[in-house]
Amino acid sequence: MIEKIIEFDKKYYMNTFGDRVKLMFKEGKGIELTNYDGTVYKDFFAGIAVSALGHSHPVLVDALKNQVSKLLHTSSIYYVENQALLAEKLCKKTCFDKVFFANTGAEANEGAIKLARKYYYNQGIDKYEIITLNNSFHGRTVTTATATGQEKYKKPYAPLTPGFVHIDANDIDALVKTVNDKTCAIMVELVQGESGVRPLDIEFVSAIRKICDEKNILMIVDEVQTGIGRTGKFFAYEHFNIEPDILTSAKALGGGVPIGALLAKDFVASAFVPGDHGTTFGGNPLSTCAGLATLEIIENEKLVENSLELGTYFKAELEKAIGDKCKEIRGIGLMIGIEFKQPIGKAVNAKLMENKYLAGSVGDSVLRVVPPLIVTKEDVDGFVECISIIMNEF
Ligand SMILES: Cc1ncc(COP(=O)(O)O)c(C=O)c1O
Repeated sequence: MIEKIIEFDKKYYMNTFGDRVKLMFKEGKGIELTNYDGTVYKDFFAGIAVSALGHSHPVLVDALKNQVSKLLHTSSIYYVENQALLAEKLCKKTCFDKVFFANTGAEANEGAIKLARKYYYNQGIDKYEIITLNNSFHGRTVTTATATGQEKYKKPYAPLTPGFVHIDANDIDALVKTVNDKTCAIMVELVQGESGVRPLDIEFVSAIRKICDEKNILMIVDEVQTGIGRTGKFFAYEHFNIEPDILTSAKALGGGVPIGALLAKDFVASAFVPGDHGTTFGGNPLSTCAGLATLEIIENEKLVENSLELGTYFKAELEKAIGDKCKEIRGIGLMIGIEFKQPIGKAVNAKLMENKYLAGSVGDSVLRVVPPLIVTKEDVDGFVECISIIMNEF
């Protein structure tokens, strides 16, 4: 079966994913994914930090079945019940006043960048420059690839969107030197995910907030990966004692159904007026139904609390299991990066897979572990036992 699909993939699918991991899943339940030959894998990667509820959560499945049988799409020309209800819910749970729904993280970030520039444009102030961080990841559209602080994602697509500058994470001197009277926003991931799970220093985040307040600059946090409980708070900014002006979310928000969101405080959200921004699919009845069900499950099952508690436990157990082969174990909540002293990240990941555990690797020496937020202590203990046995081989 998989051989035929690989053949079709190679022949008909654009070669953007290269030689993929040679697995294909038929179904999933909880944290388990089942292969076409019936082999069961424990999912500690959650489809790149998306499947916070695990797979086929019965409450999400019922909500979606019900929605699919009633209505999929109308466009936002009309009022959309779930869209308004989900917007209300997100505002009530955060420091933000208004929401706009997109379909992906990149699209939410595009919206954030447009909103920041529009805010100053409306006031006749010539500010357009956006500071982002080296090693960041903000998406794959031309503008979000420009915002991304990694050359490999953007070099071939020049000319890029003008007005982006990058500084090193946690470099307060560079921040102060780079801000100028054209700076309209500073955009950061509070935990850099794609570059190996690297939380920003709290002092650096405070310095960003302070300089934004002093110099009339907007602070944008990209919580596409860190949001919806991943770090043990609903949004990661709550760990840093600051309130951003604009925030973006996606990944876990729909429990696996594509949805992105742009959240902003009223003073900046009001910069968008009818016609400035839009989308055909964003916030349609189906994706916002998924968002509502996801948030309900996260609340009812106390998954944010589980993320914090089990994340702390998981990291401590990993330290014990990996010991001095490990350079650092980073992350907050259930967003964990294990940096090995040797470039063995990919090999450890391959061994985990042989033992039916799914995780991710970044570069040569980092293992990325982002399990569904429904993971239990027993699941964590199973992973730790497996990796501690594997480490004997390295
Ligand atoms: C922090 C961050 N921002 C943006 C994106 C882009 O999201 P999407 O792939 O949904 O466009 C990602 C994806 O990994 C991400 O991790």
